[in-house]
Amino acid sequence: MRAVLEQLESRRAEARLGGGQKRIDAQHAKGKLTARERLDVLLDEGSFEEYDMYVTHRATEFGMAGQKVPGDGVVTGWGTINGRLVYVFSQDFTVLGGSLSETHAQKICKIMDMAVRNGAPVIGLNDSGGARIQEGVASLAGYAEVFRRNAEVSGVIPQISVIMGPCAGGAVYSPAMTDFIFMVRDSSYMFVTGPDVVKTVTNEIVTAEELGGARTHTQKSSVADAAFDNDVETLEEVRRLFDFLPLNNREKPPVRPFHDDPNRIEMRLDTLVPDSAAKPYDMMELVRAIADEGDFLEIAQAFAQNIMTGFLRIEGQTVGVVANQPMVLAGCLDIDSSRKAARFVRFCDAFSIPLLTLVDVPGFLPGTAQEYGGVIKHGAKLLFAYSQATVPMVTLITRKAYGGAYDVMASKHIGADVNYAWPTAEIAVMGAKGATEILYRSELGDKDRIAERTRDYEARFTNPFVAAERGFIDEVIMPHSSRKRIARAFAALRGKSVETRWKKHDTIPL
Ligand code: HXC
Repeated sequence: MRAVLEQLESRRAEARLGGGQKRIDAQHAKGKLTARERLDVLLDEGSFEEYDMYVTHRATEFGMAGQKVPGDGVVTGWGTINGRLVYVFSQDFTVLGGSLSETHAQKICKIMDMAVRNGAPVIGLNDSGGARIQEGVASLAGYAEVFRRNAEVSGVIPQISVIMGPCAGGAVYSPAMTDFIFMVRDSSYMFVTGPDVVKTVTNEIVTAEELGGARTHTQKSSVADAAFDNDVETLEEVRRLFDFLPLNNREKPPVRPFHDDPNRIEMRLDTLVPDSAAKPYDMMELVRAIADEGDFLEIAQAFAQNIMTGFLRIEGQTVGVVANQPMVLAGCLDIDSSRKAARFVRFCDAFSIPLLTLVDVPGFLPGTAQEYGGVIKHGAKLLFAYSQATVPMVTLITRKAYGGAYDVMASKHIGADVNYAWPTAEIAVMGAKGATEILYRSELGDKDRIAERTRDYEARFTNPFVAAERGFIDEVIMPHSSRKRIARAFAALRGKSVETRWKKHDTIPL
């Protein structure tokens, strides 16, 4: 018996060594943790249950028969994060560069199937050279099996991808179909084809970092939602994100104990909006003033900064926030900000996360670049996402809500439940100056007359009361009581239920 137990221990030890000490040292030398060390940081201590530790590939060509490593380059199983169940896979770069073989894919598919059956999220730690070249089409088939599952479970369980090394080819498409992508700065890359292929095909000379590093994907492409300095920090932030999310689409997000008074008054908000409409202010101040303990997890912070998206808690309950940011491009809607916010709204709606929308928007950004880029279609994504959302929705207009952007930003008309405005709100088809110049074009030569017309327009329209008179705004509230009013609104909406018409699926303007 003892011999059998010892044999098990030695098989386990062999599997835990992955591609060998030399490659582990190389991984550490790059500032990266190993696949198992990463799981130790991500999961609660001692909670990891590993599956398929002894699985090996079945390939024989290209000398593969002699290159079998137990586990086949991916560590899979389940564990807990702050006591809540999560299924995980962690690719082991020390084994054939974490490349995906047929059996490697089967291991990932197994835990994805278990996750969806048991209603728990999947977190994938990606560190892979892509399809295992020696296995050819068997490896491509393995990828496709993973892709299909990513699509099938989308909206059923949250899926989070962490990019922790080079991810090329097929290794980027599975993350792209998940809900959130976090990257590690300076050690992770995502590209469909690497710099060498780019040079051959397009003659462009580009480094891996420029082509697919964390900066590129968080600031330019918006493929990734956040980036952090090292493995440990990134995994800690994944834990933080996980805590905001429900385990699946039939459960509510977790409720955390809170020590922040929901009735907290913030007098400084009464002077947040400057006297001049042309002056910006930082909408983040309002977001933090509303949040329990001022805690806000921003998603896609570095991209389309004219809109902010992220999670906070009110009375311990998760709320998704979409907020125009007047500090950047005056908070206008454009292609990038519409796409960013639409994606966020869809996620929140799929997972029963109530939505808070903070509005200060001068309209859609004009110009040929926007029109040629399809701002109509992209703006429609946000309009569509809000119009379809059935989660509790509370909207607060702080200042401008002009034109189509007023409609889009969770107006009453497209489905928001409670719409508040500060007394400083200006709800109109457009700003006073633009409106007067169109309405009184024949008087443009007479400056005094135009100034008087502008003042008249301002008096009539640049306030929240025209909308409030029609019931489009439920109440004009004092800025200092925003947290209290919003907390009460969400509390009253906790039982919201909406019947939707049967359909196979919508045809969202993708
Ligand atoms: C098999 C691979 C591999 C792969 C890396 N290795 N990628 N083995 N298949 N795809 C092995 C290497 O041979 C090496 O083995 C070890 O992993 C480490 O690789 P290095 O090149 O030494 O590491 P590094 O210099 O850090 O470079 C990492 C890398 C590079 C950037 C990922 O290895 C690379 O470019 N790999 C190929 C990427 C690629 O083109 N993949 C196929 C994409 S096509 P030893 O034994 O020396 O340790 C694809 C199609 C799917 O994925 C499409 C679906 C839509």
